[in-house]
Amino acid sequence: MTLERGREASKPKPVSLSELGDMKRRGQKIAMVTAYDAPSARLAEEAGLDIVFVGDSAANNVLGYEGTTAISIEEMLILARAARRGTHRAFFMIDMPLGTFQISDEDAVRNAVRFVKEAGADAVKLEGGGTSVSRARAIVAAGIPVMGHIGLTPQSATMLGGYRAQGRTAVKARQLFADALALQSAGCFAIVLEAVPARVAARITEALAIATIGIGAGVECDGQVLVWHDLLGINQGRLPRFVKQFAAVADETRRGLRAYVEEVRAGTFPTEAQTYAINDEEYALFESEIAPGVLAVDDWI
Ligand code: KIV
Repeated sequence: MTLERGREASKPKPVSLSELGDMKRRGQKIAMVTAYDAPSARLAEEAGLDIVFVGDSAANNVLGYEGTTAISIEEMLILARAARRGTHRAFFMIDMPLGTFQISDEDAVRNAVRFVKEAGADAVKLEGGGTSVSRARAIVAAGIPVMGHIGLTPQSATMLGGYRAQGRTAVKARQLFADALALQSAGCFAIVLEAVPARVAARITEALAIATIGIGAGVECDGQVLVWHDLLGINQGRLPRFVKQFAAVADETRRGLRAYVEEVRAGTFPTEAQTYAINDEEYALFESEIAPGVLAVDDWI
């Protein structure tokens, strides 16, 4: 084996669509996380995430909007390009925000193409059953893989009566089941189940040949997704029941920022270690160059 071939062999294999399908079949759980910039995507990859996903949750987590509905396609594209630059191994996905797929199949395909061409998406995700099934079919027919998303779909939270669990009655659970099957037959390669009772999610997972990715849908889903700012403890206060915080980044950030302010005020930062030097000879020359009468004030202008 040549050195070059050896190097290639040691490079981690990118996660492909077929690999995600195989993971479902093998019963190997899929780990997915949102990321909205290059350093976060890099860290997610390093940690072994299978899917890096630019969610429209960037709206509230990064851009300071109230919910997810206000984010524009242009804003999504800027964040997605950044996250793409940090993603090399993981499967890279972008959310289609409100207004980019609701109008028509043609419009949905046009916008999905933008995410692929302008931000390097391997796949897109779109929310909802109903007309979203037709949109998903059209995008898949254009050659772009689609992940569905049912249950609590934040883009239509007002219609759903707020941010609350879905599918808690037999009729509503049946609707979710039907939507999941319809999205699968439209060609989706996976479906997010958000805030769905664990037993309902488990039954849907069992019925589907494609993977389910749960967020508040129990452990029987084929994979899990969480929002970056929730799982790392950047978001604090009242959080959805399904969030588990695996780190306390906000606390650590506050500690670091306070220490910085203290050291700036006390004059203990920067020290020599963070300072550049000029040798004595150059410095003496510099002093002579700026001595009164040598440098005319006009030279500065
Ligand atoms: O936008 C987002 O973060 C999402 C995930 C919750 C799946 O859609």
